[in-house]
Amino acid sequence: MSALVVAVDGPSGSGKSSVSREVARRLGLAYLDTGAMYRAATWWCLHTGVALDDRAAVAQAVRDLPLDQGVNPDAPHVVVDGTPVDDAIRETRISAAVSAVATNLDVRDELRRRQRAAITEQADASSFSHGRGIVAEGRDITTVVAPDADVRVLLTASEEARLARRARDVHGSDDAASVDATRDQVLRRDADDSTVVQFHVAADGVVTVDSSDLDFEQTVAAVLAVVEQVGGQR
Ligand code: DC
Repeated sequence: MSALVVAVDGPSGSGKSSVSREVARRLGLAYLDTGAMYRAATWWCLHTGVALDDRAAVAQAVRDLPLDQGVNPDAPHVVVDGTPVDDAIRETRISAAVSAVATNLDVRDELRRRQRAAITEQADASSFSHGRGIVAEGRDITTVVAPDADVRVLLTASEEARLARRARDVHGSDDAASVDATRDQVLRRDADDSTVVQFHVAADGVVTVDSSDLDFEQTVAAVLAVVEQVGGQR
């Protein structure tokens, strides 16, 4: 059987990164976190002093981005020009700046090209480096990057559930103050990102998994069930 390509998209706080990574692990597939690429690009621009409002300079910096991203879900790594940036790209300063880079259409062209190349490499049974296929996740994976993926899932959740999850991740609590502190950033980023990519409504052929009332294990099980049902018909 040919390799399996699973594409997962959805808004912030839907759990798509952690769920996709675990699904990849359980299925023995590679894992591509495309948000990490936009974050690495942002880190690189800040590190090299490129002004984020200079769209042409940002686009050129990203075309030259010396990015090495691993696809093993047990040990994902993101290295830029020899520097491991796995933790640095999760910092608040990057989260706050990343939309400026992700809404640059020339940046998107370049990163989408790299994403397609990574997916194709893993989907090609003669060259895969981890497992027989890939789970790729990010805002536009099911619609733009891999519309031909074998399985396409929109992982979504109510705004309330997404804010509570992000507050637990960032502040270690989902009490009212932590949710309030998270609200602005999550909603503003999703609003900014929505200007260039639509990720709130499932496109034709994309299966929606609503994780509002599911815990992590249940969400992983729900996505695995979609993979079995849809992927099994290949
Ligand atoms: O999923 P994340 O928070 O790590 O994504 C980081 C940023 O990159 C976020 O602003 C959305 C954007 N992004 C995107 O525009 N397209 C993707 N395929 C993945 C992420």
